[in-house]
Amino acid sequence: MSRQLTAIRHLDTDTIRALIDDAGKLKESVVSGKEIRSGKARSIGLLFFENSTRTRVSFEQAASHLGYRVVNFSGSGSSLSKGESLKDTILTLKNEGLEGLVMRHKASGSAALGASYFGGPFVSAGDGQHEHPTQALGDALTIKERLGKVEGLKIAIVGDVLHSRVARSNAWLLSKLGNEVRFVGPRSLIPAYTAKLPGEVHYDLRSGIAGADVVMCLRLQRERMEDGRLSSTGEFSRNYQINRVSMRAAHPDAIIMHPGPINRGIELDDLAADAPNSAILDQVANGVFVRMAALKWVFEGEKA
Ligand code: NCD
Repeated sequence: MSRQLTAIRHLDTDTIRALIDDAGKLKESVVSGKEIRSGKARSIGLLFFENSTRTRVSFEQAASHLGYRVVNFSGSGSSLSKGESLKDTILTLKNEGLEGLVMRHKASGSAALGASYFGGPFVSAGDGQHEHPTQALGDALTIKERLGKVEGLKIAIVGDVLHSRVARSNAWLLSKLGNEVRFVGPRSLIPAYTAKLPGEVHYDLRSGIAGADVVMCLRLQRERMEDGRLSSTGEFSRNYQINRVSMRAAHPDAIIMHPGPINRGIELDDLAADAPNSAILDQVANGVFVRMAALKWVFEGEKA
C-alpha cells in the first residue's frame, strides 16, 4: 500500500513525531554536506494549480537533495485549459510513469481526491482552505528548534483563520502533540464551526496572545474572501496587527511565525517581522527538510 500525506488530521502522533525527527536528521545531513541515502531515484510530478513561491521551490529543493527527478506541471499551461478533468490529468501523469505526485489545488478536499485518482505515493502541497500538512510539519520543527520542545506550549494563531489551510493543519498538529491552541481574529474571519476545530477562540488580540509562547500570524487571504468580510484593512491592522506593542501581551520569550507570503504593515509590521525573535526565515528553511521527510515517508510505504 502506498502512503499518502493529504492532511495532518488523520495522522497519529507517532507518525507526526517521526516525520519531524526525520526532517531534523535530514537537515543535519544536508547542512553538514553528508551524503543522503534515500534509496531509488524516483521521478515525481509537481502539480500546482495555485500560485506558490516557497512551497514549490522547497519541494524542488527537497527532491534534488534526495536525488529525485522532478517534472513540473502547472494548471495554466496544460490540457486542463482544453477541458481535461483533474482525474484524467492525474491518470495521464501516472501512466507516463511518474512514481509520486505532489499537488496543490484551490479546492478544499482536492488532496484526498487527487490522491485517490493517483493511487500511489502522494503529498499534498495545500488544498483550498482545508489543510497544508507539510507547512505544519515545518512549523513544528521550527518551534522545536527555537523553544527546545513542541509540547505544553501556548500557541496563538492570529488573523484570517477562516480561509487558512495553514491554521487548520497547525491546529491539528499542535493540539495532537499536547499544546494549547488559540484562534484569534475578528468574528468575520473565524470559522463558524470552531466546535470541530481543536482550539479556543478569542476575538480580542490581547487576551488571545496573553502569555503565548508562539504567535503565528496569517495573511488576509483575499483571493478566497468574498466581499464584505472585512470593513477595512486599516481596521484589521489596528485591532490585530502583530508588532512590538501588541507582542507585550505574549510571553517575554515568545517567537513570531508567519507561513508567508507576508503583507508587511498589515498583519505584521516590519520591526516584528525582522526581529531576532522572528522565526519566519527558519520556517522557510525547514520547509525543505520536512518535504524531504514527507517524500521519503510516502515512498517508504511501498516497502512496508
Ligand atoms: C500559505 C499557503 O499557500 O497556504 N503559504 C505557504 O504555503 N507557505 C499561506 C498563504 O497563502 O497565505
